[in-house]
Amino acid sequence: MKSCRPRDGRSLFAIRSLAFFVVIQICSLPLWGQSSPNARDLLSKMTLEEKVAQLSQLPGFPVPDFIQQVGMKPEDMVRKYGAGSVLWVPTTKEINRWQHIAVDESRLHIPILFGLDVIHGYHTIFPAPIAMASSWDPKMVEGAQSVAAKEARTAGIQWTFGPMVDIARDARWGRMVEGAGEDPYLGSAMARAQVLGFQGADFSAPDRVMACVKHFAGYGAADGGRDYDSSYIPEEAMWNVYLRPFKAAVDAGVGSVMSAYMDLNDVPATGNRWLMHDVLREAWGFKGFVVSDASAVHSLIVHGYARDGDDAAYKAFSAGLNMDMASGTYAAFLAAQVKQGRISMKEIDAAVLPILETKIRLGLFEHPYADEGKLEQVLNAPESLQIARTAVQRSVVLLRNEKNLLPLDKTQIKSIAVVGPLADAESDLLGMWGAMTRPGKTVSILQGIRDKVGDAVKVEFAHGPNIRRDIPSFFENIPFVPIKEQPKQTEEEARKAFDDAVATAKNADVTVLVMGEIALMSGEAASRSSLKLSGGQEALLEAVVATGRPVILVLVNGRPLEINWAAEHVGAILETWYPGNQGGNGIADILFGDATPGGHLPVSWPRSSAQLPLYYNHTRTHAPEDAPNFTSRYWDISSKPLYPFGYGLSYTSFAFDNLKVSQAEAKVGSSLQVSVDVANTGSRAGDTVVQLYIHQRAGSASRPVRELKGFQRVNLAAGAKQTIHFTLGPEELQFWSPVKKTWVVEPEQFDVWAGEDSTAKLHGEFHLTP
Ligand code: BGC
Repeated sequence: MKSCRPRDGRSLFAIRSLAFFVVIQICSLPLWGQSSPNARDLLSKMTLEEKVAQLSQLPGFPVPDFIQQVGMKPEDMVRKYGAGSVLWVPTTKEINRWQHIAVDESRLHIPILFGLDVIHGYHTIFPAPIAMASSWDPKMVEGAQSVAAKEARTAGIQWTFGPMVDIARDARWGRMVEGAGEDPYLGSAMARAQVLGFQGADFSAPDRVMACVKHFAGYGAADGGRDYDSSYIPEEAMWNVYLRPFKAAVDAGVGSVMSAYMDLNDVPATGNRWLMHDVLREAWGFKGFVVSDASAVHSLIVHGYARDGDDAAYKAFSAGLNMDMASGTYAAFLAAQVKQGRISMKEIDAAVLPILETKIRLGLFEHPYADEGKLEQVLNAPESLQIARTAVQRSVVLLRNEKNLLPLDKTQIKSIAVVGPLADAESDLLGMWGAMTRPGKTVSILQGIRDKVGDAVKVEFAHGPNIRRDIPSFFENIPFVPIKEQPKQTEEEARKAFDDAVATAKNADVTVLVMGEIALMSGEAASRSSLKLSGGQEALLEAVVATGRPVILVLVNGRPLEINWAAEHVGAILETWYPGNQGGNGIADILFGDATPGGHLPVSWPRSSAQLPLYYNHTRTHAPEDAPNFTSRYWDISSKPLYPFGYGLSYTSFAFDNLKVSQAEAKVGSSLQVSVDVANTGSRAGDTVVQLYIHQRAGSASRPVRELKGFQRVNLAAGAKQTIHFTLGPEELQFWSPVKKTWVVEPEQFDVWAGEDSTAKLHGEFHLTP
């Protein structure tokens, strides 16, 4: 039997994008529903086929493979049996049309749960997740995701496939952009904030959506940073690093979990009972449901793990997977397996129940339809734009600012050159997911600067040579997808664009050079082997700097790039990631000092892709880097990052002092208080992120040189001082011991550091006693 699964990532993307391309006519949409049933009563009325349909998520358009697999069009399956969920439905009208089929035409009138990747905004597009993590401001992130939730829910989407919480220690991996970087503590804080932002205290509220934490688990450790490749992660690293943000999301009440694509220690995550049963349900008590990644059930065959569709459905289901995303494998095989006695009805019921309960909790029976009349007003709420603009200001990271080149003083400047292949970019500022929902108008960096300086300053623009992926993206030929490769140029066209860019820079008082990666260069299936500024950008950078005029490098990208030369020769460097549709405004606010940068890196910034994977929280080893005469790593490059994890500058400066630990000795199980004074030693107000790191000196296992265990973003007026307090309790001091095979807090000596990044010098210590 043939499956509906796109055979490779290319067709997966094509199909998803096609979904958004479909334009459909619609009809009358009465806003009425039924009263909520009791989930068990409903279950008792369902046939086996209707139950299996609830375990299926259907593509929101007819996919030939799906039709062949299940023997009917997705819509007809809804008519006949209903459906658990439908994804990739392009418009609200179309969502309502599907819902009418389910509610009016299916036997039990069970409404559909509509899912979509609302990752950092639906209409108001916020900075990409890695950018939001750079804010170290969970409250801001929660606020942004609550706007995303309200917009999506109004549009008829009740379920978002986020947050993505995969720890990423290898910048070659394209999906680093979708998560919170390399650290489990910061990652957990961002996971929690996003779940709360999407779901609120209860996702049954009409302006909330159910979240889906993904990709469970270990996807970020793909071999060589190659997307979809296998991950080999020892159990201690799973518990201590990769699983922590998932646990935080579960503790925050996330309603659903998405299984990952890759093999984890040779068992595909979508058929991995250890992950979905032992960890998620047994150890963590998760009560929601697990959906596969797109077509991942069918992929169990591709992996060489399942013999055929029948085996794939059986293996995924018995591993604990409730819902099959878009492959039709459950729909094709599960009912027969019950009839053959291989799966019991009790097991089917247990898998269906949380899906029905979710629909009831979401109020779908009472309010199955989206109110299209409300949509424009909600999507265009002016306060959402302001929240997005603030998010940009708080997410950017100032990496370098020689001689206080920034902020620019528009009263002193007569002309600005805004140069580079991303200077006038719009949809590329949204990143891949941001561009794929229903984004509002995007303000380019060029436009943001023009609006900021008005007529008083001459702003000249030059694009420079186009940049493209060497191996084209799947999206390039799909008309609907708004993110495109930049057109191919002849050598002559590229040279002319290069010369124009340099000439434009030469004629201006200052150049803002906007470089990095178009949206298609980061994200799913967008890994790369080198982090260099691609497509001649490095040459343009050096030529523009050679004009002798001041240069500010503004980076737009989804991962750290190799900027060693820039880090020595360019006046200022501002990392903006993919800033979303208020990008131009927020960045102009920063460049001209209407806002002060205070973001800090959520990743260690490599000097070269050859250093990868690179992360600050490694163990000390036989030859630690702080040992005298340390020479033992590479002999051709430093083993240290260019910028450490946690690093970020401001337009002012901060000093740390007076680190105090409440007790020199405390009993295992008790909590210690740590305090530190931070002072703004510069002449303007600004934010810093106070970070607390610990190290356990000995124990049943080697412990990382440092581990982040607390942080607080603070705003201080010039000259102001504040004492910041942290608690180190059992939660912060425990780790999963590979020797004891459980969580332990050990009676040992601990170091503590506080400061502005992971190399903080201010030190204290304490001892835990038995
Ligand atoms: C991605 C997921 C996404 C899903 C649905 C997959 O290709 O890996 O992150 O949620 O598609 O669009």
